[in-house]
Amino acid sequence: MLLDSDLLSKCSAEISILGDSVFNGETSLFIEDIINKRAQYKVFAVLREEMIAGFLILSTVLDEAEILEVAVPENLRRSGIASELMDEVFGWCQKNGTGQIFLEVRESNFPARAYYKKYGFVENGLRKNYYRNPVENAVLMSKELA
Ligand SMILES: CC(C)(COP(=O)(O)OP(=O)(O)OC[C@H]1O[C@@H](n2cnc3c(N)ncnc32)[C@H](O)[C@@H]1OP(=O)(O)O)[C@@H](O)C(=O)NCCC(=O)NCCS
Repeated sequence: MLLDSDLLSKCSAEISILGDSVFNGETSLFIEDIINKRAQYKVFAVLREEMIAGFLILSTVLDEAEILEVAVPENLRRSGIASELMDEVFGWCQKNGTGQIFLEVRESNFPARAYYKKYGFVENGLRKNYYRNPVENAVLMSKELA
């Protein structure tokens, strides 16, 4: 589901803990910016037994969107949660006239690259040494929406 501001406030700690463990502390900064209205990112989440089982942060500008982060706890992976998130994002994009979705991903992150490819994203660029901690290339991917 797309979290409204009340739900995001309620779930912010859970999302930050999950995301920060994967993204070196970046998630809590995104969430803080959204709550304090410094950014208008959208946060999609899947709940299991009223707990956050996955989230995806989407930045949108005019008819373009960028996936900033997506994460599922290790013990819940490979059960279709990230797929649910992507289906929701595609649904939102279709309703809102988004024409293209972009993202970047660590070159060594084969599970994520497979996930995006399954959803029709194509790899169309490389940013050398883009990431820190550890330094790594970013693979650029995008998908055109009909
Ligand atoms: C990438 C990630 C979000 C996938 O979440 P998930 O809930 O396990 O994904 P799903 O179960 O919905 O899998 C969807 C598809 O992704 C691909 N996939 C997911 N994990 C995979 C793995 N370990 N190896 C190969 N393919 C994988 C498969 O194509 C899979 O479809 P299939 O199950 O029919 O084969 C999860 O591994 C994760 O949180 N990783 C850490 C954070 C991260 O790297 N985020 C992306 C960078 S922004």
